[in-house]
Formats: sequence, structure tokens, C-alpha cells
Amino acid sequence: EICKGVNGLDKVVLREVRGSSAEVYLYGGHVTSWRNDHGEELLFLSTKAIFKPPKAIRGGIPICFPQFGSHGNLDQHGFARNRFWSIDTNPPPFPTVSTNKALIDLIFKPSEEDLKTWPHSYEFRLRITLGPGGDLMLTSRIRNIDAKPLSFTFAYHTYLSVSDISEVRVEGLETLDFLDNLKAKERFTEQGDAITFESEVDKIYLATPTKIAVIDHEKKRTFVLRKDGLPDAVVWNPWEKKAKSMADFGDDDYKHMLCVEAAAVEKVITLKPGEEWKGRLELSAVPSSYRSGQ
Ligand code: BG6
Repeated sequence: EICKGVNGLDKVVLREVRGSSAEVYLYGGHVTSWRNDHGEELLFLSTKAIFKPPKAIRGGIPICFPQFGSHGNLDQHGFARNRFWSIDTNPPPFPTVSTNKALIDLIFKPSEEDLKTWPHSYEFRLRITLGPGGDLMLTSRIRNIDAKPLSFTFAYHTYLSVSDISEVRVEGLETLDFLDNLKAKERFTEQGDAITFESEVDKIYLATPTKIAVIDHEKKRTFVLRKDGLPDAVVWNPWEKKAKSMADFGDDDYKHMLCVEAAAVEKVITLKPGEEWKGRLELSAVPSSYRSGQ
């Protein structure tokens, strides 16, 4: 189902028979909404999000490609998040045949203009699937169709919706090394045994496990992120001061969001001519009691 979203931008709505849904804007190939079968929104979208190119939409799941953050000469987080993607009517086969109808295949190819800023030819295919239990899956496949190597960094910049950031705990990143963006990307090792939040955080955890849990105590909800092909995980919350400095971020919005981003940052991905890379993110949201017996 394709329809008009904010400011007349095209969006695709995915609906799963049991009631969960997702919305994907062709602008940015950007998931802006993911609801469970009770209709509850699971992704954060800024109260001041600007749905107007060239600004990337603040919230949901922006795609950072071909550069994560300021790790290169391109604009922050690359340009895929502020380009118009197309529906891929003829996606190459996936290894597992899916009978699931709640999916959409998108494709992004660089324009002449893009080739001037970043002279590389590639095809970026993105499949977004809503699973039978309401899980949200994103699979990116990037193929180098140039005669020279293609190097990039990447992130699914997932903004999770939480009831109160002070009541949130992240599991799966304890004792890992991280680069701290607030301290000139210096390398540290996480000391505490649980990751909680009381001030601005902007860290790139390196070589993490494939499964990370975000526990929202107040909502009694646990998000489980599973990732594949994406060794790193970025954790970001701008907190009060930085939130106020961002035009598209509500002053109090920082209390209700946490970005946990499946990423490939430290080790640049390089594809030989003709080679393809695959990076996958699977998100599920379950009642905390279900998981921990509390
Ligand atoms: C995070 C970065 O992934 O994205 C932060 O680690 C950055 O440094 C944040 O501030 C938001 O970036 P942007 O470009 O969407 O404002």
C-alpha cells in the first residue's frame, strides 16, 4: 500500500495480519513507524521532525551510508538518508523464499550529482519485512558495480521509543571497548555491569555480540536487537543541552528516546568489483516479564 505521508512525501504502509504495522518513506528509505499488534508505537519520532528534503527525518530508522558520522569527508552520516529511493520491482532472489506479504523492497542508485561528490557505482537494495510476531527486519544488500573497490561505513540509526530514559538499561555491551564521540573518538573500555543513562552519551561500542537488549523498566518492555554483518553498536542520547540546540528535536524529546544503532564503523567495509555486502537488523519488542520472569 503506497500513499502520501507528511508534506505529500510517498510512504509505504506494511500491515501484518495480527495487527502490527510499519511505515516507510521513500525519502531516505526511512522507516518512520513500527507499531505492535496493540497499535503502540515502538520507534521514536521527534515532535519537531522536518519532513522536507534535504533534511533527514529525525526519528525512526535513518540509513547512514556511505559514511557513518564524521568518519570521512562526506556530510555527517552520508547521503542515503536524504535521497529519494525507489520501489525495487525486480529484487534478486533471497536465499529463503518468503511467503510473507508484509514486506517492501527498495533500491537506491547514485544520481549523476551523487557521482560527482562520491564517484562510485553501486546498487543498494533494502528489504523491510514485518514478521508474523510483529518483528521488524531490515536487510541491506550493497553491490559494487564499479571497476574499482568500494569502501564504506554504515549504520541503521534506530531511534527506540522509551517511556523515561532514566529507567532504561542496555544489556550486551558490558566490558566492551568503545570510541567516545564526546571525547575526540578516544578509545575506552566499559566498566559498569549495566549501561544506564544520566547524561549525554555518544559511544561506538566495538565488536559487540549480535544480540543487544534495551530494557524499558517503566513500560515493562524489552527491545531485542539482533544484527548480522554489523560488528559495532552506537549508543546515542543528546540529553537536554544538545537537544535544545537541534532545530528538529523537541526540548524534552530526549527523555523518550534512545538510539541503539547496528553499525559497521571501526572496520571499513571494502567490496571488490562485483562483490556484494549484506547487513541485517532484526528488532523485536516483548513484555519484560516474558523475558526475565519479573
Ligand atoms: C549519532 C552520532 O549516531 O547520530 C552522533 O553518533 C550524532 O554524534 C547523532 O549527533 C545525530 O546525528 P544527526 O546528523 O542526525 O544530527
